[in-house]
Amino acid sequence: MQDAIITLTRAYRFTAAHFYRDPAASDAENEQLFGKCANPHGHGHNYRVEVTLRGTPDRRTGMLLDLRRLDGIVGAQVLEPLDHKNLNLQVPFFTTHQPTCENLARWVWDALATALPPGLLDAVRVHEADDLAAECRGPAR
Ligand code: NI
Repeated sequence: MQDAIITLTRAYRFTAAHFYRDPAASDAENEQLFGKCANPHGHGHNYRVEVTLRGTPDRRTGMLLDLRRLDGIVGAQVLEPLDHKNLNLQVPFFTTHQPTCENLARWVWDALATALPPGLLDAVRVHEADDLAAECRGPAR
């Protein structure tokens, strides 16, 4: 039988706090731009991250990647740096970028793309809530 392209998606959860703020703008401008999310004391979300791999399963194991290895990489590269953190204050990227789910998806992609075997990462989805998620499929070309 001919090999087929398969995707595999694994989900993870973490909890974090954030706020949105343009440091160059006034309090009133920030509130106009970001609404309640501009509150500098922050608020929290229970995030769900879906990591999708894409490729041809190994003939012997039937797997794209050993899940223990995937869990170890996601744990070290993503969950450890983000879980129970204030994203604005404790994750260097988000001192210069708003910690939106769009930018979180990009951050998670970058954290995983270099740690996984080349070409295996297909997509990263970050769900900030049941009704909001952002997906990153790699850098813009
Ligand atoms: Ni929020």
